[in-house]
Amino acid sequence: MQSARQERPIGVFDSGIGGLTVAQAITRVLPDEQMIYFGDTAHMPYGDKSVELIQKYSTRIVRFLLDKYHCKAIVIACNTASAAAYVELRDALKGEIPVINVIDPMVERVVSDANLHHVGIIATLTTIRSGVYQEKLTRRRPDLKYSALATPLLAPMIEEGFFENNISNAVLHEYLDSEILDGIDSLILACTHYPLIKKEIEAFYSHQVTVIDSALVVAEKLLHILKKEGLLNSIQQKNNHHFFVSDLSDHFRKAVKIFYGDEINLEKVTI
Ligand code: DGL
Repeated sequence: MQSARQERPIGVFDSGIGGLTVAQAITRVLPDEQMIYFGDTAHMPYGDKSVELIQKYSTRIVRFLLDKYHCKAIVIACNTASAAAYVELRDALKGEIPVINVIDPMVERVVSDANLHHVGIIATLTTIRSGVYQEKLTRRRPDLKYSALATPLLAPMIEEGFFENNISNAVLHEYLDSEILDGIDSLILACTHYPLIKKEIEAFYSHQVTVIDSALVVAEKLLHILKKEGLLNSIQQKNNHHFFVSDLSDHFRKAVKIFYGDEINLEKVTI
């Protein structure tokens, strides 16, 4: 017998369209779950904001997802918010609902792959400065060499719809040519916007470097946690996801359509 708790939606948030790469993986791995997505487009990019500000925005979004939709789990589909606000959110919601970040499943994936020896990390300024990937990777695999590079232009560029064109290629080459990344055998896309330029990145390395994004591992982690907590929805649902943004842009509308088709509930909301 299904409980009311199991029927509740999953709350997912990011600063903008990046989290849609995670959301899409979630809807593939968990097709019977309803999702409430929040893109904080009015405050995008998070990557150049202070930790305090990102914590404030993240807390506000989570309150909205809980108060209005009674979400049964929260997925922080943003590396920057995961780096800045995960511990705070997890502690605040302890015993209430599970909170999943995008960093731990990625670290798990990387440390368990014995073929990886020198890992590159690209991310926003706030994520790189937090040192969270560097610290977690070293703790789990001291033998692993890593090289971290902040790539602050990438997320705003992608949010603006610039990918797979000359501009995105030029910006990307400028970053990936950096000597900091010399000799890497793998590259962590430590920003959920970056899977949208994954093909370009793989092409830059002529497919000789393993490019890893977090979408699937995060969705699998969520499946595992929902199962463990007895929160899986077992009743088949039709697509009734809701998408909220703090500022409605054409790019966001287009991006959601690309991922979810025409029949989407997209709304601007002030929180
Ligand atoms: N997508 C977000 C991340 O994973 C951040 C982009 C931004 O707002 O700077 O870090």
